[in-house]
Amino acid sequence: MPIFTNSTGWILATRSTAYALGLNDAGALTHCYWGPRLPDLADYPPPPSPGGWSSFNLPAQLTPEEFPGYTGNTFIEPCLKVTFADGVRNVVLGYVGATILPGPVPTLAITLEDGFYPLRVTLLYRLYEAYDLLERAVRIENLGTEPMLIERIWSALWHLPQDGRYRLRHMVGRHLDEAILRHEPLSEGVKRLESRRLASSHHHSPWFAVDRDPAIDLGQGADEGTGEVWFGALAWSGNWQIAAEVTDFGSTRIGLGLNDWDFAWRLGAGETFTTPVSYAGYTAAGFGAMSRCWHTFIREVILPGARQVQKVFYNSWEATHFDVDEASQIDLAAIAASLGVELFVLDDGWFAGRNDDTAALGDWRPDPHKFPHGLTPLIRRVHELGMAFGLWIEPEMVSPKSELYRTHPDWVLHFPTRARTESRHQLILNLARPDVQDHLIAQFDRLLTEQSIDFIKWDMNRNVSEPGWPAAPGEPREVWVRYIEGVYRVWGTLRERHPHVVWQNCSGGGGRVDLGLMRLADQFQLSDNIDPTRFLAMQEGFSQIFPANTMHAWVADLPASHLSLRFRFHVSMCGILGLGGHLAQWTPEERDEAAALIAQYKTIRTLVQFGALYRLRSPQRHAFAAVLYVAPDRSEAVLFAFRTHLPAQTRLPPLRLQGLDPQRHYTIEGQPEVRSGAAWMHLGLHLHLDDFASCVVQIRQV
Ligand code: GLA
Repeated sequence: MPIFTNSTGWILATRSTAYALGLNDAGALTHCYWGPRLPDLADYPPPPSPGGWSSFNLPAQLTPEEFPGYTGNTFIEPCLKVTFADGVRNVVLGYVGATILPGPVPTLAITLEDGFYPLRVTLLYRLYEAYDLLERAVRIENLGTEPMLIERIWSALWHLPQDGRYRLRHMVGRHLDEAILRHEPLSEGVKRLESRRLASSHHHSPWFAVDRDPAIDLGQGADEGTGEVWFGALAWSGNWQIAAEVTDFGSTRIGLGLNDWDFAWRLGAGETFTTPVSYAGYTAAGFGAMSRCWHTFIREVILPGARQVQKVFYNSWEATHFDVDEASQIDLAAIAASLGVELFVLDDGWFAGRNDDTAALGDWRPDPHKFPHGLTPLIRRVHELGMAFGLWIEPEMVSPKSELYRTHPDWVLHFPTRARTESRHQLILNLARPDVQDHLIAQFDRLLTEQSIDFIKWDMNRNVSEPGWPAAPGEPREVWVRYIEGVYRVWGTLRERHPHVVWQNCSGGGGRVDLGLMRLADQFQLSDNIDPTRFLAMQEGFSQIFPANTMHAWVADLPASHLSLRFRFHVSMCGILGLGGHLAQWTPEERDEAAALIAQYKTIRTLVQFGALYRLRSPQRHAFAAVLYVAPDRSEAVLFAFRTHLPAQTRLPPLRLQGLDPQRHYTIEGQPEVRSGAAWMHLGLHLHLDDFASCVVQIRQV
């Protein structure tokens, strides 16, 4: 059992890391340690004793509490704010007891209670020992007879070692431009990242990675291959918040959880509320090791389906937009199949009255003009061609011009006295309402039962405006959480009833990519941006935490581009390869080349989708970029390299490989010598690439 107790508290040990907490002299539940696993239990430091030296600098400010309530003169970011029925806004939590629950994922449950008010808080710590990851969540119970109002409840506060100064790595972006990495020093004050959009968003992402700031802790920062990194994420698809706080006393902590902006939750007598979970881990081997830790965990624990190789797909959206019908889609399907495509996806435009984006969301029946015999003939033909069939839907939305809206105008998020702001001519159904959820479940359950559909692309093409819930039975600000729980319920129920379906998560591209939806969706669309050089950069951003077998990557048409078809394919072959071009307009030579590249992808995709990823050179920082995927047994690997623009006389630096076994010998396509893994990793190999050229190189143990 990896949960140990000592005289003051608990040590949670994974394969190579440990996290310790305990009760200090004043009885406060206090963080003690987070870092590498140490040889002896006695090595872990005891809880810090409260200090303090003036009426302004009090002990509470110096104590790294595990889950501080808003109380006393601490002035730090609290994890919990509650207003009690009598108006008191002050939470005083005291330790009551702890339980250790054994099992495949051992759990430590620590109970805290308010000494005066009937409030119980249980801190849950679950250990994924083999994955070096810890999960935290919080359960809060009203043990009394009157309601209380929760105004903030975070899932975790992660404390960094007290001796350090740190940098925060995180992701920024926007629609069509997702997943840009930032890495910045943290100093006194709070760096807040959040979403207020009712989606985890294109703009920031609910994860963090922290390393030591080498400018201050000399020489101690992390890079891709070395150095200490503390990292974490929140499994939530709605409004979230990360507050990276450096206190005035130099203590750094990262709080994360539901965003408290416009949030409130009425906890009635006898009721319980449980937060989303936060995962976190530590590595001494840099950001690359962090990513591989996430990738394995996501593949083996988070993703819903059993391990399955993701198919090569075709989706006509970028080629034909709303202009779809039975005959033209069958033509495209025939070409796609002849190139080796395995999944054909019919995107937007297939349902009644959907000729552009101004109408019809909500009315999910085939358009009688475009598909006079329904979808059956197309689906049958796709299956005859040996491909799976996929369909686009956008369940959470409604067009004002639709039958659904005419029947249920009250089903959308709105304030009765305010105009309903449209984006892309659509409004958001209030999925906090159980009747709306039931309607969606019934409608899409019918669709999936009546039609032989193998794949669903679930889209969500706008963010919130008026977050009103006029008929809310209780506190209307619960809508932020209840909406997302509604999405999870609808998606989860459909998934359960149709277990053979593969689900893709899209929100105008990568607008809702998070560990919450990754429990329900097998893959996600990175972006609506189809430019391969941006795609390369986005893969670097998303791959910080998400594995290649979740990243849909399509080759679309780029008229007048200087990038070759081969370059564009190579970029997409770094994830789940797909096509999005107008295949009927491709020349015979282009089709032959595409067929050959698809065939090549099929020979390496197990390595790409399930191998260990090594980012050798960053496309966000260099014009010469490379990634390597290594088989778990290190017997083979595949290398992708890309050169965008560099002055002609530039000699590419040697590409030093990683992740090979130093003792074994490997041969590399295009290189005459057989060399040890050590030699390839230390000396590297020389590639000759012209501007805007790329290569895929296989590496095999001899
Ligand atoms: C979003 C998606 C696109 C496409 C369109 C359809 O923008 O990201 O891939 O499905 O919607 O309207």
